[in-house]
Amino acid sequence: MEDPDPDQHLTSEAKIHITNLLPEIGKEAMQKEVLQGLQARPRYIPSKYFYDKKGSALFEEITKLEEYYPTRTEKEIIASLWDKLQLDGEDVQIIELGSGDASKIELLLSQVPVEKQRHIHYIPVDISESSIKTAAARLARHFPGLRITGIVADFIHQLDSLPREGKRCFCFFGSTIGNLDKNEIRHFMTMLKNTMHNGDYFLLGLDMVKPVDVLERAYNDSKGVTARFNRNILNVTNDLLTATFDPDAFSHVAFFNQSKQRIEMHLKAEKDMDVHFGFNGQKIRLTKGETIHTENSQKFDRKQVEKLAAGNGMRIKQQFTDPKGWFSLVYCCADSP
Ligand code: AVJ
Repeated sequence: MEDPDPDQHLTSEAKIHITNLLPEIGKEAMQKEVLQGLQARPRYIPSKYFYDKKGSALFEEITKLEEYYPTRTEKEIIASLWDKLQLDGEDVQIIELGSGDASKIELLLSQVPVEKQRHIHYIPVDISESSIKTAAARLARHFPGLRITGIVADFIHQLDSLPREGKRCFCFFGSTIGNLDKNEIRHFMTMLKNTMHNGDYFLLGLDMVKPVDVLERAYNDSKGVTARFNRNILNVTNDLLTATFDPDAFSHVAFFNQSKQRIEMHLKAEKDMDVHFGFNGQKIRLTKGETIHTENSQKFDRKQVEKLAAGNGMRIKQQFTDPKGWFSLVYCCADSP
């Protein structure tokens, strides 16, 4: 992306700039995407639609739950990571894909000596504009030297709209890549690899396979926050399609699919129902017990990590993990052709 207003960064008062690229995708395309999933068999809703304002807040609540180990474990690794990344010494752009509340970057940047912070340009990319605004304001307060450019975008499809100049470190935390299916992962990795220059880095957070009870508890918390998060995707759908889903008529289902090594989340209709779509006048009929697939969360093992990187033209520089090996941060560079 070209800098929309170069003067924006000359004064310290105006270090934050936010660009919204979502209108380029267009509401109709999003409506079409969601409708298509709802009409498919089995029915599904792409998991990126979890993250409206309420959904993003609910996810943040999930990350603080006792049962939800990924965020805590990943942060444990990030807490002493900065020096190992060897990003000191020159100007660098840290582009975070799916930045959310940006608390992981905050943890990383808190390890950067103050006088070096002004060499960093932080570029959070997220589908939620409210998340970006809140996070950017907080980081600007905590790191006065930091330059921040927020980009509201669907980073899977808008990777080519991200800044191309200078040395860049792409960060993709939270094992969010595990929400994509095999083809989407391959597509994403190829796109990323192609935008990466020599000297650029890619820091990827991956949730690893572990005992099933630990995995299933993380997605079936006792406070029911994950259930509320899951149902909220129907509120988002209601807004987007002017639809008539009653979220309370659905129950939360989450389990580990052994053969696919992934947690699956579904919403199960507890009664027969018609759902109307105001935006196009159509309707669908759900029968009691029918499910809508809302998320896959792939869990990885060492072999898959190798394959994910090497199979897509990236070289693993280093791998960082916690003592239990529950989560991995994989530091990659683009293999020179
Ligand atoms: C943010 C996508 C990584 O898959 O664990 C949390 C989302 N879903 N609880 C995950 C999520 C249910 C989370 N990611």
